[in-house]
Amino acid sequence: MLNRRHLLKAAVAGGAAALFPWEGLSGTGVAAAGGELAQSTPFAHAMPVPRTLAPASTTATADLYDLRMREADVEIVKGLTSRVRTYGGAFPGPTIKASSGREVVVRQYNDLTVDTAVHLHGAHVLSEHDGLPMDVIAPGSSRTYHYPNAQRAASLWYHDHAHHLEAENVYMGLHGLYLISDPEERKLPLPRGAYDVPLVIRDARIEADGTLRYTRPSDCPHMLVNGKERPYAKVAARKYRLRLYNACANRYLRLRFADGTPFTQIASDGGLLEQPLERDELLMLGGERIEVVVDFSRWGEGRSVVLENAGALPTERPEVLRFDITRAGADPSQVPARLTTLPPVPQGTVEREFELRTFPAMTINGLTYDPDRVDVETTVGTSEIWTIRNVEAPLAAPPDFHVYHSFHTHLVYFRVLERNGRPAGARDQGLKDTVCLGPGETVKIAMTWGPYAGQYLYHCHQLGHSSGGQMGRIDVRAA
Ligand code: C2O
Ligand code: CU
Repeated sequence: MLNRRHLLKAAVAGGAAALFPWEGLSGTGVAAAGGELAQSTPFAHAMPVPRTLAPASTTATADLYDLRMREADVEIVKGLTSRVRTYGGAFPGPTIKASSGREVVVRQYNDLTVDTAVHLHGAHVLSEHDGLPMDVIAPGSSRTYHYPNAQRAASLWYHDHAHHLEAENVYMGLHGLYLISDPEERKLPLPRGAYDVPLVIRDARIEADGTLRYTRPSDCPHMLVNGKERPYAKVAARKYRLRLYNACANRYLRLRFADGTPFTQIASDGGLLEQPLERDELLMLGGERIEVVVDFSRWGEGRSVVLENAGALPTERPEVLRFDITRAGADPSQVPARLTTLPPVPQGTVEREFELRTFPAMTINGLTYDPDRVDVETTVGTSEIWTIRNVEAPLAAPPDFHVYHSFHTHLVYFRVLERNGRPAGARDQGLKDTVCLGPGETVKIAMTWGPYAGQYLYHCHQLGHSSGGQMGRIDVRAA
């Protein structure tokens, strides 16, 4: 296993491309390197739901958790054992359930052989608790992160962020859910309890001997939901709230029901939308979350429906997950016509421009990440408008994953004002912390920096890209 020093040396010696383990592989894929697993049989596993982590202790104002990052052997494809990197032995990690206004403290022990840094994606946290790329937990040591949760209900996730290693660490399993609820959300008659289900979706390459191999996305034919390859889920003929995560290191998903049935989007990265939206396909890039309500009574008891990835390559199976509607279910839940009131759209007084490139290297405004270089300076309370351009041209055919970018800001949520010169449409609604840029696309986003001062980041959430340096440093000064 390469450690960070080796990787930094490799980066200096060979440019950013040297950071991608698939560089130098033949164009025919890694099959020649040995051990490709033939297509696995779909729907062999019942879909698990990640377990909820119990606090090690509680105080009047906080819940304290302990997690050990360690390797574990898990079954991803039926009958095969895969060695993965985990939080607490679970793949994906256990779910932390937080309440708005109540602090969570997580003590993370690194029992792995690589550096790690734990970032809570979507959280307003002090810089020293943000899991910055150089602020690592060395093997054998531990670190305590404080999360104030002074924010509205939303589906967050925690994942690795150690510089140059995050893509592989996340891919190997270092990701878990962190769900914040608040009284306003709890009052809504949305599906809850067993009818509120997260779907952590990601690709993988499992070799014939079970090895989980980190490689380019076009060589990752396996699709996992909550850690199992193309599972099935038994559901009742009623409404469910599904929290969808694209946890892929390097690819987009186009999720839809195979029969085209529409569903109702209720939330995006930063929690509830003001009004529900009818959708029939979701383009999701790495890091994005979308919550939907699906009414399985539309199909009825005894039927099945497949959630598929219309963005699968021609060589891949499109199926992601099969829902089997196996029973009737009383359904007191409803989707109200008005879900919440969002804070007003920030009126930006500072404008900035960012250009994202894939070729010849993963850059933002022509530069790769340098932790010692401040790319943007702002002050707490400043509202800004950022214009972000993906300057790459569309490719003639897929795989085109590497010409997409997923622009992500730490510390703040933003609103998407415009996409390609037009007002933001359905896919860009709500509070966002990640926005998808297809080749040639331009988006304008608005945010207000704060509430904390300190060093933060913005980067592409295709993690092979951020590992390759498509990342910038923003220093927020106290007002
Ligand atoms: Cu989910 Cu800086 O990332
Ligand atoms: Cu990118």
